[in-house]
Amino acid sequence: MPFFQKKTDQSGVDFSRLPRHVAIIMDGNGRWAKKRGLPRTAGHAAGAETFRTIATYCKEIGLDYLTVYAFSTENWKRPAEEVSAIMGLLRKYLLEAIEKMERDRVKMEFFGDLTPIAPELRELIERTREISKHYEGCQVNICLNYGGRDELLRAARAFARDCVEGRADPDSLTEQQLGGYLFSRGVPDPDLVIRPSGELRLSNFLLWQSAYSEFYYTDVLWPDFSKEELLRAIADFQGRSRRYGGV
Ligand code: IPE
Ligand code: IPE
Ligand code: MG
Repeated sequence: MPFFQKKTDQSGVDFSRLPRHVAIIMDGNGRWAKKRGLPRTAGHAAGAETFRTIATYCKEIGLDYLTVYAFSTENWKRPAEEVSAIMGLLRKYLLEAIEKMERDRVKMEFFGDLTPIAPELRELIERTREISKHYEGCQVNICLNYGGRDELLRAARAFARDCVEGRADPDSLTEQQLGGYLFSRGVPDPDLVIRPSGELRLSNFLLWQSAYSEFYYTDVLWPDFSKEELLRAIADFQGRSRRYGGV
């Protein structure tokens, strides 16, 4: 807990028992732009700024993990110009993040199949991973070309391969071992999943990992999401009773 923060402030958040892992479906960029008569890409640019603010804030308050949904396996269905604008924004974001990496010291990981991503962007992703891999304190996972079903399919394929080649045994597979085949290996499950923009669905996000996550929905569109909104979600989360099927 940062020294300047009281245990509980006016937000109602108890900073001594924050969720360890918060995941966010960064949705509503297009509607945000439409409301302002702007092209959808302007919404994505504004959303990228919000991501920067929220990621920095998560580190500041002492969150261990933040996972964000940036681009799904289904988002390729969008017009080519929109897809390339999103990739361009990611490139810009990573270039700026690399510049400030030694100052911000946020560890960055990427969940998703990166093979269809342009080589130049992939190289940036690798560089970001490499530079930040020793940082401690807060890990940000960016889900890019990520789909929960795709992740499980890949795990099934990899496990089957290990069985065929004699490295694994189907009858002794545990949940923990299966987790080791996922993009999220080594990362605890999200405690809290936040979806802005008013949609009440998961849209193929962290299907395996969110089995017992608490959900928080808000009508606020992602570009308007703020530190205060995040604290509101955390305060709400702290008022819940997690029973995991028990009593
Ligand atoms: C989320 O915002 C960003 C991505 C899915 C890449 P949207 O672009 O889905 O915004 P809406 O849902 O159309 O408002
Ligand atoms: C989910 O948002 C994916 C991301 C935020 C990256 P979508 O806008 O793609 O989800 P749907 O289509 O409304 O379910
Ligand atoms: Mg959307």
